[in-house]
Amino acid sequence: MKAVTWQGKRNVQVDNVPDPTIEQPTDAIVRITSTAICGSDLHLYEVLGPFLDSGDILGHEPMGIVEEVGTGVTHIKPGDRVVIPFNIACGHCYMCDHELFAQCETTQTYDQDMGAALFGYTKLYGQVPGGQAEFLRVPQAQFGPIKVPEGTPDERFLYLSDVLPTSWQAVDYASVPKGGSVTVFGLGPIGQMCARIAQYQGARVVGVDLVPERLAMARRHGIQVVDAAEDDDVPEIIRGMTEGRGTDSVIDAVGMEAHGSPGAKAAQTAVGLLPDAVASRVMETGGVDRLAVLNDCIDTVRRSGTISLSGVYGGTADPLNLLKMFDKGVQIRMGQAHVKRWIDDIMPLLTGDGDPLGVDDLATHRVPLDQAPEMYEKFQKKEDGAIKVVLKP
Ligand SMILES: NC(=O)c1ccc[n+]([C@@H]2O[C@H](COP(=O)([O-])OP(=O)(O)OC[C@H]3O[C@@H](n4cnc5c(N)ncnc54)[C@H](O)[C@@H]3O)[C@@H](O)[C@H]2O)c1
Ligand SMILES: [Zn+2]
Ligand SMILES: [Zn+2]
Repeated sequence: MKAVTWQGKRNVQVDNVPDPTIEQPTDAIVRITSTAICGSDLHLYEVLGPFLDSGDILGHEPMGIVEEVGTGVTHIKPGDRVVIPFNIACGHCYMCDHELFAQCETTQTYDQDMGAALFGYTKLYGQVPGGQAEFLRVPQAQFGPIKVPEGTPDERFLYLSDVLPTSWQAVDYASVPKGGSVTVFGLGPIGQMCARIAQYQGARVVGVDLVPERLAMARRHGIQVVDAAEDDDVPEIIRGMTEGRGTDSVIDAVGMEAHGSPGAKAAQTAVGLLPDAVASRVMETGGVDRLAVLNDCIDTVRRSGTISLSGVYGGTADPLNLLKMFDKGVQIRMGQAHVKRWIDDIMPLLTGDGDPLGVDDLATHRVPLDQAPEMYEKFQKKEDGAIKVVLKP
């Protein structure tokens, strides 16, 4: 089959690789019909290289048609249309019983002391072959795959794999008070959906980005925006919009590669030039993130407000302004999304009347799998209006 493989920094290619097969009774094989590129994939493309091997299959936002199931898989059968959550969870361990699926104790990568395995996401998360491919082997398929109805284009349900539950969790963790306000930093796919979900739930939302078409997309969904390219003191602007206080809550939907952190960018680049074994050790003990946005979040949130981090961070030696965090009494929640925890909340908004979250207006590019290399580049460089790219194997 054809699959998108990581080859090195800013280098992915489409390769012919062996078809996956059922290896465990709890496996399923899914023929992928749509599979998206995520902002998280851009971290692999650029700074997390030391944790990948050449040839690793990328991708964690797939959906498709079940081809084959192991004997232990009963809730789906060949021919069913399914979406695959990005985290791999068993559904029956201590963590899964508490709906903390991103920490599943059956699939945790114990040798790395990291949480549940993820599709297509480095040795830190189990090095499981990902879903930007014609076929995907789904481990723990007795629990993971989400059956979705027929009769709509894939994009109606595709984002259940990651974007929608991640954004739903980000908004939930932001604990916006009733009738309160939230700033969303970053208007990539995650930020767009955070903004729409928070607005749908009744919050006043301010979105921040510096890419014109991303600001425009938020605006056409009724979100008030601040252009970080024009205003270099975004927290001050937002205080000016909120009687000097800042918004009740703030969501960081940017993560470790924020624009405007030149020192940390240089450090990330320097680490990327080391041999892999050395680089991964440096990142595990002394890695730093680009913290411009996280610092803006701390500055923007009102006193005793809540910060929700859905942008991925990986630094182990990040200097943070604890004086300000402690004095302001800031609360912070973060983590990988517990995808299946939120599906029952979201599904009615996808199957009911209309399209209240506007999922039909997120993808900007739908292309054959073969075009993955150029689309990774466009998405990373934010060229050609790329906001969300859906590959069609
Ligand atoms: N927690 C989870 O489970 C989870 C799941 C999916 C994605 N993520 C993470 O969420 C983040 C966003 O993902 P995405 O797919 O939307 O990615 P993306 O790269 O498309 O979006 C990031 C956005 O941040 C903007 N940005 C960069 N610097 C900024 C600054 N200084 N001020 C304001 N905006 C700035 C960029 O212009 C871009 O629009 C990534 O870090 C990704 O890894 C987390
Ligand atoms: Zn993703
Ligand atoms: Zn589990």
